[in-house]
Amino acid sequence: MQRRRWSRRAQSWNDGAATNPGLSATIDAVVAAATVSSHMTVLDMGCGSGQLTVPLALRVAHVTAVDVSAAMIELLHENLSREGLANVTSRVEALERLTLPPSSVDVVVSNYALHHLADVEKRRLLDAALVWLRPGGRIVIGDLMLGRGGDARDRAIIAEKVLVLGRRGPGGWWRICKNAWRFAARTTERPLSMDSWERALCDAGFTEVAARTIVSEAGLVHGKRPAADPG
Ligand SMILES: C[S@@+](CC[C@H](N)C(=O)[O-])C[C@H]1O[C@@H](n2cnc3c(N)ncnc32)[C@H](O)[C@@H]1O
Repeated sequence: MQRRRWSRRAQSWNDGAATNPGLSATIDAVVAAATVSSHMTVLDMGCGSGQLTVPLALRVAHVTAVDVSAAMIELLHENLSREGLANVTSRVEALERLTLPPSSVDVVVSNYALHHLADVEKRRLLDAALVWLRPGGRIVIGDLMLGRGGDARDRAIIAEKVLVLGRRGPGGWWRICKNAWRFAARTTERPLSMDSWERALCDAGFTEVAARTIVSEAGLVHGKRPAADPG
């Protein structure tokens, strides 16, 4: 389903990304929190057409960029060649089936992709990412972070959206209903709250876990694979 959906939307996502201030702010925050340097290798999960892959590839030795949509990967290659970058390996693959050798990357990143995965797959991916990272390596996730109104942050974001859309009249009311259904049914949008992301990283075994809001519903969570396994 995600493959079909994103292959249809690949060109418009690619065209709109540069002028989307929320997306740019999230990408900048992920890049800053990744604290990469030129010898490092990075995995970008759900890379799209390279909004995060490209700035990272300009800073590190190698990026593995994974996306389920072949159309997105095609656009990624166009964007890479425009920048003259040849240090990216792309994989057209569902994250649910992704495997990498243990301790093979320094940093794992993802931007606005993991809320499409079922919760059980998010947790499986975090468990796997801990293994793929070298000891001391970092994971940084920027995403739509929103629960179902369980905490004050969720409620403030939902209230703000309802207010803004509600003022637009029937078109806005339709969007409210459509979004409410999407989030309730969790068929394509399955965001977690920021607290749930923090807990999930801790449960997977990451340390130094922290999260913060970037802008409105966009949040950032990061953690570290412990430098040495205890015991
Ligand atoms: C909103 S776009 C974000 C793209 C890019 N990371 C960015 O920051 O602009 C979400 C991307 O996640 C990819 N995606 C969604 N579900 C996926 C899955 N299960 N496995 C791999 N990629 C997936 C989509 O194909 C799409 O390219």
